[in-house]
Amino acid sequence: MIDNPYTPIKTEVVGVNEESPTIKTVSLKPEKPLHFKAGQFVEMTIPGVGEAPFTPSSSPYEKSKLEISIMKAGRVTAKIHDLKKGDIVGLRGPYGNEYPLSEFEGKEILLVGGGVGLAPLRALFLALVHDMDKYKNITFCCGSRTPSDIIYKDCVLDKWQKMNKKVKFRITVDKKDNNWKGNVGLVTTTLDNLKIDLKNSVAIVCGPPIMMKFSTFKLLEIGYKNEQIYLSMEKNMSCGIGKCGHCRLGNFYVCKDGPVFRYDRINNIHEIWD
Ligand SMILES: Cc1cc2nc3c(=O)[nH]c(=O)nc-3n(C[C@H](O)[C@H](O)[C@H](O)COP(=O)(O)OP(=O)(O)OC[C@H]3O[C@@H](n4cnc5c(N)ncnc54)[C@H](O)[C@@H]3O)c2cc1C
Ligand code: FES
Repeated sequence: MIDNPYTPIKTEVVGVNEESPTIKTVSLKPEKPLHFKAGQFVEMTIPGVGEAPFTPSSSPYEKSKLEISIMKAGRVTAKIHDLKKGDIVGLRGPYGNEYPLSEFEGKEILLVGGGVGLAPLRALFLALVHDMDKYKNITFCCGSRTPSDIIYKDCVLDKWQKMNKKVKFRITVDKKDNNWKGNVGLVTTTLDNLKIDLKNSVAIVCGPPIMMKFSTFKLLEIGYKNEQIYLSMEKNMSCGIGKCGHCRLGNFYVCKDGPVFRYDRINNIHEIWD
């Protein structure tokens, strides 16, 4: 019998965590193993509603379950926000390429994320700290709209920074509230005065298109070269496996050739930031 590539694996919701007013993290236990590498994505099916692509945000080394952080955007994601422990969904994948960790070895690593774009970066961050002796250090720049929109509070609120001298966080919000004592400004402001040897660094950016555009331009302005910048691209997807053409970006299919692209491969594509 030929396997149908669209058949999802039956998956139990084993936990739901409200990260912010618009983002929830669901913990999922697939019936069969679904091992992903940081940067790859899966298609999640809500029976009777539809499916949508998401990048796991948990450590790829955690084999018994995976976490996906989901921002409410429309029909499928609204239903996902209603999920409770014990509900059943479908997962298929993993699809696409992963972050090329071997290209990061020996380097100073700069992660730049905004909003739910922090999801793939969290998986990458957890994979990097798992083998921290391979990398010089990590600077993680995180941007959120307001303090209540900050996600992964367990991960960013100094815990990792205190545990590991090679990890530094720079957190900013666009708009503060009365209790916020930290940085205020767009995530690009966290790229000012970086204490990084740029020549021996790579930068990985993920977030909404506008944030990725201005973060990339700022990185170039401060001295990063095209080939030192990696972007996680998002396009509307359907099949997820290079068949339908929905996710075309220039000559690439984001689902198959990406979603991780080194900037020098795509910088000449006209619709890159659409
Ligand atoms: C590779 C990949 C990884 C992703 N990872 C995550 C993740 O980890 N967490 C997360 O919250 N979201 C992620 N997304 C975005 C997520 O897939 C969309 O938010 C989701 O498909 C919206 O489905 P919906 O039915 O709720 O919304 P719809 O009702 O289909 O649409 C709501 C709005 O979202 C827009 N939209 C629909 N699909 C996409 C898309 N793929 N990218 C951008 N905008 C879209 C529509 O144009 C519309 O404006 C990822 C997308 C891709 C391609
Ligand atoms: S989603 Fe169908 S080709 Fe990429």
